[in-house]
Amino acid sequence: MRTRSFLTATALVVATLLGATTSCGNSSAEDPEAADKQKARDDARSFYLTRVHLRLDTCIGCHAGGSAPRFMAADGEASYDALEKTVGLIGAPKASPLVQYVHRDPAVVMIPEQRSILTQWLSLEATARGLEGAVEKPKTVTEAYKQFADCMNFDVWSYYRMGDLAFAQTDSEGPCLGCHSSGQGSAWLSATSRETFERTKDFPYIQKLIVAKLGGNGSFESLEPSNRFIIKSSELCPPESPTCHPRYGLPPNFTAGVRGFVDTTLQNLVTDTCSSGIVVPTNLDAGPKDAGGG
Ligand code: HEC
Ligand code: HEC
Repeated sequence: MRTRSFLTATALVVATLLGATTSCGNSSAEDPEAADKQKARDDARSFYLTRVHLRLDTCIGCHAGGSAPRFMAADGEASYDALEKTVGLIGAPKASPLVQYVHRDPAVVMIPEQRSILTQWLSLEATARGLEGAVEKPKTVTEAYKQFADCMNFDVWSYYRMGDLAFAQTDSEGPCLGCHSSGQGSAWLSATSRETFERTKDFPYIQKLIVAKLGGNGSFESLEPSNRFIIKSSELCPPESPTCHPRYGLPPNFTAGVRGFVDTTLQNLVTDTCSSGIVVPTNLDAGPKDAGGG
């Protein structure tokens, strides 16, 4: 069997536990903790069904039959079941072959969107199932920001040319660094890429990159891209406002760079590859030559 090489001790134990939980389904009635766990499992599953399955169309083309190992199906639910039954596939992103496997045929590659959505889904699964390698979810917003800051990697930052952002031009009031070189308006954009990088790790500057999503009871839920540098450019100046931010439009490669840096860092966070700073290939117009990571 092909999956053999991924059959680790942990995966086996987990698979056994899973069998047990699914077969005695609704034990959640009185036990709030079990209800939470079940909800996390259901959320992960519906994330696959609503957001992941369609994105994996290329994979499914081969892995729902034919000559490739069959562990997916054309239908979403059937595919989820097949993935779940194949020992070792559902695991923390840093361990799962779904993200890590490199095909013998170099023409078979995973596009960044696929890697991103698979990574998000698998980390939901890993946390819901308490799998080894699941990155512990921060308990507070402060902790979450710190985790992100610690995961920011200067090679990744440079790869996405984040240092160039400070030199982007406004329509008629010069480049960003003219006003933001020491953090004015809680956006830090100075001439030295390294300085902007270091400062952006701190609150409140970090919020220009990410924002914490809170759950119903105000508890920390997840970090998401805030895209402030991108959104700011299309925000209208409220008529009652005495001053307006200078107008600007970011060139597409800058926009792609900001998104790329934040997405990559969020991915590195869950795959525990912050220090190696793995960068997935993208079609940035600027065309950085070498990922620098690895
Ligand atoms: C053109 C057909 C094709 C496409 C597209 C494809 N694969 Fe594969 N895949 C294969 C074949 C064939 C193998 C067997 C080993 C090999 O060739 O590397 C394989 C092996 C694998 C394995 C190892 C499984 C095992 O049991 O050894 C994983 C995991 C995997 N593919 C995931 C994916 C994912 C995820 C995608 C989509 C991003 C994908 N594949 C796209 C053909 C494909
Ligand atoms: C002429 C001075 C000036 C220039 C040039 C300038 N800004 Fe600002 N910026 C401000 C001021 C003042 C604030 C605080 C008030 C506000 O939010 O409008 C601010 C706030 C911001 C904020 C944070 C507020 C928020 O809504 O999140 C962002 C992001 C920002 N600027 C991005 C940029 C970018 C990107 C550039 C270059 C393309 C730029 N700025 C150029 C003066 C400037």
